[in-house]
Amino acid sequence: MPIPECDTVRAIMANSAPSFTLVDVPGGMPLFGHAGTFKKNPLQTISAWWRQHGDALRFRLGPKTLHLFSHPDLADEILIHQSDKFVKVYDPRRPVGLALVLGNGLVTSSGEVWKRHRRIIQPIFHRSRMAAMADRMAQVGEQRIAGWADHAGKPVDIATEMMLLALEVISQTMFTTSMTQHTAQISHALRVSLKYAFDSFHNPLHPPKWLPTARNREFRQVMEFMDGLVYGLLTERRRSGEQHGDLLDQLLQARDEETGAGLSDQELRDEALTIFAAGHETTANALAWTWYLLATHPEAKARFHEEVDRVLNGRTPSADDLPHLPYTRALFDESLRLFPPAPAIQRKTLTSTTIGGLTLPPGAIVLIGVHNLHRHPAFWRDPERFLPERWLDGERPAARCAYLPFGAGPRACVGTHFAAIEGPLLLALIGRHYDLQLAQQHVEPELMVTLRPKGGIRMTLQPRQVPTVTVVNGVP
Ligand code: HEM
Repeated sequence: MPIPECDTVRAIMANSAPSFTLVDVPGGMPLFGHAGTFKKNPLQTISAWWRQHGDALRFRLGPKTLHLFSHPDLADEILIHQSDKFVKVYDPRRPVGLALVLGNGLVTSSGEVWKRHRRIIQPIFHRSRMAAMADRMAQVGEQRIAGWADHAGKPVDIATEMMLLALEVISQTMFTTSMTQHTAQISHALRVSLKYAFDSFHNPLHPPKWLPTARNREFRQVMEFMDGLVYGLLTERRRSGEQHGDLLDQLLQARDEETGAGLSDQELRDEALTIFAAGHETTANALAWTWYLLATHPEAKARFHEEVDRVLNGRTPSADDLPHLPYTRALFDESLRLFPPAPAIQRKTLTSTTIGGLTLPPGAIVLIGVHNLHRHPAFWRDPERFLPERWLDGERPAARCAYLPFGAGPRACVGTHFAAIEGPLLLALIGRHYDLQLAQQHVEPELMVTLRPKGGIRMTLQPRQVPTVTVVNGVP
């Protein structure tokens, strides 16, 4: 069903090159700019600014000027059409933000290093490998929720549970190892380090790393722990000489086409930690938000359980089941729309660049407001409503960058297919066993690099009557 507003927008686009006016967000303070307001609640602030002032905005965080773009055409220019004019904001010589944690890995690097490393890592995510990965995901899922039996009928923090589950999935699929012994520590280390990284980028008063503050000490401690874990994995694989055909093997065996040199230990550490962090934190948040949306929309939950019971008939799901679980997939897609785990994408201009009639100087920092794009009334019908059906009715907006949960263009998420399998598969697997019911009043989103539910989400794990497979003459 076409969306009327979209038709109008398309008609306007067809007749004229889109052009935008850059609006300066009012209320900046002399030294700190808008840092005070932004720091209090970054997500709410970029959403409110967009609603009040429009699709192309400029604001200041201390000495940094940022541009907030919340229109699909501007996102298209930055991520696809003129992607060669934009780089990531990180400088490996002076790491700030995520680079403090992930170093110069696939998420944070740019230029030739990024190109070479993407060529090494991409084949692991080839579609042909996904069925085997799905089996492993399902195995991990069943093992993990077997431990839930003790909590049945009691409230748990579902955000933490999803984090631990996704962490084990990524450890088993990418590194052929179990992290169950360390999950609580890893979870803590990532929470501390991501908070620190986010603050270091956006807070003009963030103290330098060398100062002996309690926060700096805590950051150093958690990073030492993470480094120890990753270097331990590398050492153990080298020592054992075992081959698993996983990401770790791929990284260890990679050779430069010209020099024949392998990746340095620092490069190996950065890439392994990047996949480790990027590969579970996002999916875990997406799953937590989906459970929240289901718990607050009983009709959607009933339809979800009906689909899961009918299609699986008591079995553990596999990749082959996914095409038969369209509603489950639609739930995941709609959850990624309303609560995109990466709610903003950052870039920096390499040279003076013009997009949508706006000329940006070299080094200009841009933020693509993914969260805003996903709720843009010109591109979505009833944008604030949870309507999984829209994905079944082919209601996708015409603009290709109106929906960007995985980014777009050359820097789009390398794990897109992996996540698109993992999300619905784990939803179906859990939904088969449990009915998750909300056990708290208020749930608030918090932007901390990713979009997390602030303080978690308490939910009661209500065991469901799992339909049994009836076998007649050996035929189920
Ligand atoms: C629901 C789950 C996920 C979401 C919403 C998500 C989102 C994103 C987004 C928006 C980007 C682009 C960032 C940018 O353009 O600056 C990205 C990049 C990336 N993602 Fe994901 N991601 C998910 C799952 C995964 C998984 C499962 C993995 C790995 C197993 C992964 C690894 C990466 C990596 C390595 C990059 C950097 C790619 C590059 O620049 O070449 N992600 N992700």
